[in-house]
Amino acid sequence: MQGSDADRLTDTVIEAFGGTPDPRLRQLTTRLVHHLHAYVKDVKPTFDEWMQAIQFLTRVGQTCVGGRQEFILLSDVLGVSMLVDMVNHDLPQGATETTVLGPVYVDNPPTMSLGADIAGGLKGQPLYVEGIVRSASGTPVAGAQIEVWQADEEGLYDLQKPNFGADHTELRARFFADQDGRFRFRSIVPKFYSIPVDGPVGDLTRATKRGTFRPAHLHFMISAPGFEKLITHIFVRGDPHLNNDAVFAVKPSLVGDYVEKPAGVAAPDGGEMSEPWFHLAYDFGLKPATAKAT
Ligand code: BEZ
Ligand code: FE
Repeated sequence: MQGSDADRLTDTVIEAFGGTPDPRLRQLTTRLVHHLHAYVKDVKPTFDEWMQAIQFLTRVGQTCVGGRQEFILLSDVLGVSMLVDMVNHDLPQGATETTVLGPVYVDNPPTMSLGADIAGGLKGQPLYVEGIVRSASGTPVAGAQIEVWQADEEGLYDLQKPNFGADHTELRARFFADQDGRFRFRSIVPKFYSIPVDGPVGDLTRATKRGTFRPAHLHFMISAPGFEKLITHIFVRGDPHLNNDAVFAVKPSLVGDYVEKPAGVAAPDGGEMSEPWFHLAYDFGLKPATAKAT
C-alpha cells in the first residue's frame, strides 16, 4: 500500500540523515525525526501553535543566563531528566540510587574540612549529617569526594539571591571522606520549595495547572577514581510533597530519616548542641565504573 505524502516526507527526511557516518549519531537523528514527525501527525499543530512552540523554546534559551539553566528545568518538568537517569542506571546491589542533577548545581564549591558547618550562620533548624561512602560491594572508599548543596529554611538556593557569586556561595561545599570512607558536616534542615517559575517553564506550569513544589532534600554528588559519579538527593521523610515532586525525582530508597534530638544531646562528634537538632545518618554505595548490569 502506498503511504501518504506525510509518510513519504518522513521517509525522505530519515533518508537524508541515513548517510551519517557515525552509527550512534545516525540512530539519534533518524529516530528523532521518526518520533517528532509522528507527534506532528498525531496532534496536527496549527501554524500559530508551531510558532508559539518556537517562541517558547527561544525564551527557554534566552533564560539560560548566569548560573540559570532553563533547558534542564524544562527537561526536568517533562520527566525527561528522570527518564534519562532511569535508562542509564542499571545499578548493582548495594549501589545508591540516582536522581536528577537539577539546574542549581554549581561547579567547584568551597572545600571544607569534615565536620564544618555549611550553613555559615544562616538561620534554620540545626542538622548533623554523617555517613560512609562504600563501594557497592561494601568496601569503604577512602578519600571519596562529596559535594553537597541545598536550599535554605525558606526553600531558596544561593543562586536565587542577589548576593550570589563565585566569592559568595551558601549551603554548598565539597568534602573528602576520611580513610574509612566516613564524612560528616553540619547544616540546617532543608525546606521544600517551588522550582523557579519566573521564566518560560513557569508559564508552562501555570498554563497546565501543574504543581511546582519539590520535597525537601539535600543534593549529593559523590565521586572517586574507579567508580561512576553518583548524583542523588536524600529527601526528608514526612515532607508533604514526597508524592507530588514537580520533577518526578523521588525514589523510596532516597528518603532519609532526619531524626529530631532534644537540646543538650551531644552531636555524634561530641559537639555541644544547645538547641533541638536533627540527625541524618546515610551511607552511600558507589557503582564500579566497569560494573556490568545485574
Ligand atoms: C533542584 O533540586 O534543585 C531542582 C531540580 C529540578 C528543578 C528545579 C530544581
Ligand atoms: Fe534541589
